[in-house]
Amino acid sequence: MSDVERTEAKSRALRRYEGSPLVAGCDSGEPRLDLYSPFGPLIGKARMTPEFIDGLNRHADGKVRADKGSEFTLPPETVFDGGEKSLMKVTEDLIQRYICQVDGHRPRRVTIEIFWVVSQYAGTPSPVHFHSGDISGVLYLKTPRIDREDDEERKTYISNRQAGYINFLIGGRQEFSRSLVSFKPIVGDFYIFPGWLLHGAEPFRGSGERRSLAFNARVER
Ligand SMILES: [Fe+2]
Repeated sequence: MSDVERTEAKSRALRRYEGSPLVAGCDSGEPRLDLYSPFGPLIGKARMTPEFIDGLNRHADGKVRADKGSEFTLPPETVFDGGEKSLMKVTEDLIQRYICQVDGHRPRRVTIEIFWVVSQYAGTPSPVHFHSGDISGVLYLKTPRIDREDDEERKTYISNRQAGYINFLIGGRQEFSRSLVSFKPIVGDFYIFPGWLLHGAEPFRGSGERRSLAFNARVER
């Protein structure tokens, strides 16, 4: 067996630990088998309008660099621009609704401490990390063209898994349990998750900018 074949075999064997945002439909036998997945953190996802994304990109366009990656915090005038439809108000509301799903009621207070923009080009990793806040999120503002995106056999765990995608990880390899879920970054997709949840992105090969907005929020329940 060659090194490449060994890597591919290992990758296929580990795929069972990868969750899917969709319920798999591989069971059609009798009696019906109901499956529950009651444990683990919730990952919220909202779709933001093109107008909302365009507004944020207009603020960011003058600050990112065209030749290399950069990162900057968003100033209050950008965060509050638009009043009730501002980034601050819309994100606060999404966090409130996310918490309501977990607690059964809205939290007493949500304080978003910081919004920042991350601009990346090919070859830049976002090593696996967690955030300091209670709730964090990531909103995709621009996405690159990823080379060989469909080349399943070249993907390995965790290194190079879904290069350019966001990977959320919980625990390690646990039998009969999913421990990784990978989402393709799509402009307008806004993910909301507990700040402690490990996540990261492997460096992609391709062209164009991968631009995302992130936040940290404190929650009083
Ligand atoms: Fe992050």
